[in-house]
Amino acid sequence: MADSKGNREGLDPIVEETRDYVFVPWAVQGEVRPKPILRAEGCWFFDAEGQRYLDFSSQHIVSNIGHGHPKVVAAIQKQAETLCYISPGYANDMRSRLARLMAEVTPGDLCKTLFTSGGSEANENAIKFARWYTGRQKVITRYRSYHGASHGSMTLGGDNRRWASEPGIPGISRVFDPYCYRCPFGKQPDSCGLECVTHIEEVIRAEGPDQVAAVFIEGITGIGGVLVPPARYLPALRALCDTYGILLVSDEVMTGFGRTGRWFGVDHWNVVPDIITFAKGVNGGYVPLGGVVISERIARHFDRHMYWGGLTYSGHPLACAAGVATIEVYREEELIERSARLGLRLLDELRGLQARHPSIGDVRGLGLFCGIELVKDRATREALIPWQDPQFGVMGGGGVMGRMREAAMQRGLYFFGKWNMMYIAPPLTVSEEDLLWGVRVLDEVLGLADASATA
Ligand SMILES: Cc1ncc(COP(=O)(O)O)c(C=O)c1O
Repeated sequence: MADSKGNREGLDPIVEETRDYVFVPWAVQGEVRPKPILRAEGCWFFDAEGQRYLDFSSQHIVSNIGHGHPKVVAAIQKQAETLCYISPGYANDMRSRLARLMAEVTPGDLCKTLFTSGGSEANENAIKFARWYTGRQKVITRYRSYHGASHGSMTLGGDNRRWASEPGIPGISRVFDPYCYRCPFGKQPDSCGLECVTHIEEVIRAEGPDQVAAVFIEGITGIGGVLVPPARYLPALRALCDTYGILLVSDEVMTGFGRTGRWFGVDHWNVVPDIITFAKGVNGGYVPLGGVVISERIARHFDRHMYWGGLTYSGHPLACAAGVATIEVYREEELIERSARLGLRLLDELRGLQARHPSIGDVRGLGLFCGIELVKDRATREALIPWQDPQFGVMGGGGVMGRMREAAMQRGLYFFGKWNMMYIAPPLTVSEEDLLWGVRVLDEVLGLADASATA
């Protein structure tokens, strides 16, 4: 049905064109009605009517330095005038400078980077590195983790996003996460014997220790629930991997580059993985970029052995120029420290919300990476919306979470929420004033969750 301007359903022409020609990911195409967004600045983005929204989840936890940072924009412009593309087989100043910076900011002896176009490809290549370096096939991953949507990385993931792609790649075994609020082993912090690690050892033994190439983790599990592990978890997992000659791979796609108040999630526990994968925050999403950083000994192995893999856009100069400028921004503006400092304030504020809203079961996080877990009943901890409930879509549409997100947007606040988790992760550049304003809006919309919990 066309309106007076000839638009079907009275939709904005951009939305119409999108619905006609763009295949929108993670969606039933007939249901999509995306809001047109044409401009963003700092921590705010603007719709076609000029209404502005505070970006309280940095889109999907990507925009660590906010939108339109002048230094990064200028670096992209300069690079575009100089050289947009050159094959990965050539040396390029932006590519090598970013790789050197990656060696500087990653922990321990992580030293060499294979660049990719995003996080999924980074994890695909991490599987290859682990398998070819160890000569073993099996990989252990966790049920709450997400590692990407390409075939192999999707198999690494644990939640129901992988189901439609199964059986996926062979050789993947999964273990339970360190989820203290809902400990899969029925423990409380004071009775915890790190069963989440001994369980991994049992799985390693069951699979055959000399067959297991790697254990994949997220530095801090992200969309699976902002699961901050107990303090002894990662050091114990590192030691376990060392015992069996298994590589520890930390996917820092979401938790990297100051998001949690340290350069990488694993830095909170001074654990050095054998491989780190990254994307998103490396250049705040200004140009698609990801990568795999490998340790010295893995790098030396591939000095003598062929690496059977590559990508046309590996080390894309525009993306790398944006990456170099972004890392300089993190350093010059002390954004990692800022994330740690503001994160404490944010956590405090969210705990204040918890005191007022019975639907909040738990609040947790590190740095500007916080999660609010909603429950029907604090005593039983029954989730307000069950994890993996297919009714509520992978992108968290519908239900009370959908209504809360809509109510927040009407007030000028964007946040990402899915099932019973709200992800509060603004750009690390967010002002304290905006941060507090965003929390006030959350306070208003959480009434919907309280009402739904008692309904
Ligand atoms: C932890 C983690 N790993 C991997 C990915 C996949 O990255 P990409 O979508 O860039 O392929 C994501 C995406 O959200 C992620 O959060």
